[in-house]
Amino acid sequence: MTNTFYAGIDLGTSRTTITTSSGRRMTTLSCVGYCKDFIARKRFGRDYLLGEEALEHRLALEMIWPLEHGVIRDDEKSREATRLIISHLIDRTLPERESGDQLLTAVGVPAQASLNSKKTILAAIEPLVGKLLVVSEPFAVAYGLDRFDECLIVDIGAGTTDLCRMHGSYAEETDQLTLTKAGNYLDQAIMEAIQEKYPEVQLTPQIAKRIKEKYGYVYDTSDPVKVTLSSKGVQGEYDLTDVLHAACLKLAEPISEAIGELIGTFDPDFQERLRNNVILAGGGSRLRGIDRAIEKSLTPYGGGRATCVDDAEFCGAMGTLKMCEDMPLEEWERL
Ligand SMILES: Nc1ncnc2c1ncn2[C@@H]1O[C@H](COP(=O)(O)OP(=O)(O)OP(=O)(O)O)[C@@H](O)[C@H]1O
Ligand SMILES: [Mg+2]
Repeated sequence: MTNTFYAGIDLGTSRTTITTSSGRRMTTLSCVGYCKDFIARKRFGRDYLLGEEALEHRLALEMIWPLEHGVIRDDEKSREATRLIISHLIDRTLPERESGDQLLTAVGVPAQASLNSKKTILAAIEPLVGKLLVVSEPFAVAYGLDRFDECLIVDIGAGTTDLCRMHGSYAEETDQLTLTKAGNYLDQAIMEAIQEKYPEVQLTPQIAKRIKEKYGYVYDTSDPVKVTLSSKGVQGEYDLTDVLHAACLKLAEPISEAIGELIGTFDPDFQERLRNNVILAGGGSRLRGIDRAIEKSLTPYGGGRATCVDDAEFCGAMGTLKMCEDMPLEEWERL
C-alpha cells in the first residue's frame, strides 16, 4: 500500500525550515560547503557538509549559499546545493517514507520570487518530490495563522522583507511588495557603522550578525551596549549603543515606509483595519522594538497596532504544510 506524506518548506536566504505531516520539524542554514581539496575530504570523510556544520568548518570548504534575495541563483551549482539541503531535510523528517509513497510539498518563497522565478525553483526541487506547489511566503504565514481577514503580513527575512496585504481571498500582485532591505542588509549596515567609528576593529558579517541578534534595537533609548571586539588581535571593549541604533533604523524606516504605501493604496473603508492588524514574522521580527517603531510610524495615519508572531522560525513552514494538507486532491492532480 502506498502512503501519502505532506511537507511544508520555507526556503529562505539564511535558513530553510520544514514541517511534515509526520509531526516533525527541522531547520538548517541554507548553505552547502564543498571540500576545497583532498585534505579537507580526508578530514571530513565526505565531499560536502551542510548547514551549521559547513559554516563551522568554512575555512576548509567552498561555501555555496544558493539563495540570493530569496531567489535561487540560476546556475547548476546553486540548484544542486538547494536539492542537497531540501533532500536532507525531507529524509530526516520523513524517515518512514518508502519509494513509491506519494510526497506532496509546498514551498514558500519571497513574494516577488513566487511571481518571477517559479521556473528555477521548480527545476531545482521538482526532481525530489512528487508534486510541488510554490507559494508566496507572507501569504503562507497568514494561512498558517488562519488570518484570512484584513491584515498586513510583514516577513522580515535575511535577503528580503516581504509584505502582503490580506483581504479574504488570494493575494494579488498589487497586494505584495518585496524589499531587499532585510537581515543581511542590516548586518552590512552595522559593519559599516562600527567600522566608521572604530576603523581599527576587525569585523566580519558573522560578527555583525551576532551583535545584531544579541543587542540590536530600535527603541529610542537602551542600556549601554558594550561589546568585546578585536583590533589586530588585541581584545578591547567598544561602546556600540548609538551606532547600533542608527544602523537598525536603516532597516526599520524603509519597512515602515513600505507598510505606509500598502495601507495608503488600500480601499479607504478598510485602511483602519489594516493599520490595526500588522503582523511581523521572519527572523527580523525579533529585532527588539521593531513592533513599537512600526506603530510609531503609523501615528500620522491615525495610529495602528503591530504584533510579532510567536514562532518566527517555523510559522512560514507551518503555513505551507497547512496549505498542502488543505488542498483538495483534484487541485494536486491539476498541477
Ligand atoms: N534577535 C534577532 N534580532 C534581529 N535579527 C534577527 C534576530 N534573530 C534572527 N535575526 C535575523 O533574521 C534573519 C533570518 O530570518 P529568516 O530565517 O526569517 O530569514 P530567511 O527566511 O532565511 O530569509 P528570506 O526570507 O529573506 O529568504 C537573519 O538576518 C537573522 O540575523
Ligand atoms: Mg523567509
